[in-house]
Amino acid sequence: MQSKTKLGLAAALVAGSLSSPFAQAADRPAGLAALGPPPIPADNPQTPEKVELGKMLFFDPRLGGDGSISCASCHEQAAGWGFPDALSLGYPGTVHWRNSQTVINSAYYGKLFWAGSSSSLESQAKSAASGAVAGNGEADMMETRLAFIPEYRKRFKEVFGDEWPRITNAWRAIAAFERTLVQTDTPFDKYMQGDDNALSAQQQRGLDLFAGKAGCIACHNGALLSDESYHNIGVPPAAQWEDDGLAQITFRYELYAKGVTEPMYRSTKDDPGLYFRTKEKADKGKFRTPSLRYAKYTAPYMHNGALATLRDVVDFYNAGGGENEFSANKSGLIEPLGLNEEEIGDLLAFLDSLSGPEIEMEEPDLPDYAPLQ
Ligand code: HEC
Ligand code: HEC
Repeated sequence: MQSKTKLGLAAALVAGSLSSPFAQAADRPAGLAALGPPPIPADNPQTPEKVELGKMLFFDPRLGGDGSISCASCHEQAAGWGFPDALSLGYPGTVHWRNSQTVINSAYYGKLFWAGSSSSLESQAKSAASGAVAGNGEADMMETRLAFIPEYRKRFKEVFGDEWPRITNAWRAIAAFERTLVQTDTPFDKYMQGDDNALSAQQQRGLDLFAGKAGCIACHNGALLSDESYHNIGVPPAAQWEDDGLAQITFRYELYAKGVTEPMYRSTKDDPGLYFRTKEKADKGKFRTPSLRYAKYTAPYMHNGALATLRDVVDFYNAGGGENEFSANKSGLIEPLGLNEEEIGDLLAFLDSLSGPEIEMEEPDLPDYAPLQ
């Protein structure tokens, strides 16, 4: 059943979401749009040389603690630029405690990470390379390594004017590379711009469900299909936290490092999400609505990879979401949908139209160290 409140909220949320530079065909659902080029910050303009340097650094394991894992180790091209396990690979000796997100289209978010704890790709790259369960790299050491690679010395000088590579410029270059990892020409984008044949009849029925009976548009809206807001939709806790010692260690460590109360540290068995940032009870279990673009390739799904396939995701919503430790905060927008088998197929067909072909590239050759003369 389509409720009026749902549509009202969707319209309000859309008012604050990304605008698109494209004219939209009149008969398309309001609240959704084709995706334009990503915003480029004034203090980090794109140049081809910077993007090329950023690409090398993204694939270079020397920007990490023990020189064994790069950004690309947890953001694999073949896994939708994410990681194929429910919980991501972690720094050697750890497992990560969350699902690795795709970096495709990350250039559009105002807030990055599952709970929005980073506000730019530049600062995100820094946290990723230094976080204890991710890169675990020490800034001065990583900077010194770059300085002992003549090819990087040359490139940092050309791109940033650095006599000696500066680590903050490494994050700038990586961010510039990530701003090229976008997909703006999916069948959905073409349809929104007026090409009636870009979506099949089944996909168009799926779009109507998405924007109507299934209510997805209340949160997945705008050109990115994300309201960039936070909701608890009842994703159950990660099974690995119950039975995998290493995963538990990471989880306890994060609770401690992010400063929860002692009773919470001792008793909580679930990821409090946005609460870490706000320390408001009402925010426990809330996560940033992810984009649904490129999702065809980014299984498994949700902040802890609890759902293996898009079919599982649609079944989850059809059943009214799930339960977690913080279900008291579960969104009122998540309720049983009553979709039949045909409607489920239509919705899945529509979700498929939000992804174009896989983005693939050859990995760069990495330059060698050379001792200074
Ligand atoms: C050890 C695994 C690991 C490494 C190494 C790693 N990441 Fe990640 N990345 C993750 C995980 C897991 C998340 C989600 C974490 C969270 O939300 O708490 C993530 C999130 C992100 C996001 C946020 C996407 C979004 O939708 O908000 C970006 C961007 C990103 N990583 C880029 C990078 C870059 C750049 C590097 C290298 C400097 C890097 N990552 C290194 C595992 C990793
Ligand atoms: C109340 C807001 C809300 C509504 C309504 C909603 N979603 Fe979501 N969606 C979210 C949030 C928040 C997450 C992340 C939750 C988490 O990880 O705990 C999410 C996650 C997802 C994911 C996983 C993406 C990924 O990268 O892991 C998919 C796919 C998805 N939603 C599809 C849908 C579909 C299809 C519908 C309609 C049937 C829908 N959503 C309705 C807020 C919503």
